[in-house]
Amino acid sequence: MNSSLIIGSNSHIARAIIRRLQDAEPSEKIIAVSRGQQPAELEGVDWYQSDYSEPSIAELVKRFTDSALTFNRVFICLGILHDQKVSPEKRLEELNSDAIQHVFQINAITPALWLKQLLPLLKQARGCKVTIFSARIGSIGDNHLGGWYSYRASKAALNMLLKSTAIEYARRAPAVKLLAFHPGTTDTPLSRPFSKNVPEDKLFQPDFVAQRLLEILDGLEPDGELSFLDWQGKTVAW
Ligand SMILES: NC(=O)c1ccc[n+]([C@@H]2O[C@H](COP(=O)([O-])OP(=O)(O)OC[C@H]3O[C@@H](n4cnc5c(N)ncnc54)[C@H](OP(=O)(O)O)[C@@H]3O)[C@@H](O)[C@H]2O)c1
Repeated sequence: MNSSLIIGSNSHIARAIIRRLQDAEPSEKIIAVSRGQQPAELEGVDWYQSDYSEPSIAELVKRFTDSALTFNRVFICLGILHDQKVSPEKRLEELNSDAIQHVFQINAITPALWLKQLLPLLKQARGCKVTIFSARIGSIGDNHLGGWYSYRASKAALNMLLKSTAIEYARRAPAVKLLAFHPGTTDTPLSRPFSKNVPEDKLFQPDFVAQRLLEILDGLEPDGELSFLDWQGKTVAW
């Protein structure tokens, strides 16, 4: 049976994707992975908890394999901009080694480890579209403002990890399409402290982003290439 896998399913954008999938494809299985517990609003989803350590990721992928699950869509929604430990740096003096490593771990390393562990499963896929949430702010070519060092650099690192993964997947799992996706500024806990000055028409609701992403995915074919697209379906500069 075809299923969708949503990693980081407590993300507000992830929840909107799940709700849209439930409405559009009620017979399809949805597998959700999160550090947290299943929220009541997402009943009907198969919910797995993980601390995103590599053993935990490997154990979950083994369970999916043992259950003969095949995925036609995977969404990796993990991302951090601020929490109790970190906030985006405005000046070099604010750089802190632990904070940079913390942001890189969540934004770049953990998604790459998921793609490593999922490879054997995705090799069997007959057509699977894998979306990894990146951000335009990780574009080196588009960086005209500076600042937000850890977040920018972690998303740039994510993009390079994805590029190498796409080259290897094209050989070893050719029926997979990788999409690095920029959702646009979206009203979620990640952006909320920084979105006060964003005009209302430029601040998207998660449901709008989920709708745009699912429409964009419908138009993509597995071509062995990594695409970096925004919510309009337009290519973002690396
Ligand atoms: N909102 C925006 O304006 C915007 C703009 C550009 C890109 N993005 C990207 O879109 C993606 C989704 O973000 P969102 O806006 O939906 O934010 P959100 O609602 O704050 O979701 C945060 C996500 O990050 C995970 N996460 C948070 N802290 C973590 C930690 N300490 N360790 C491991 N995972 C952690 C959560 O996973 P659990 O389910 O395990 O809690 C959840 O998937 C992110 O990659 C973000 O960078 C967002």
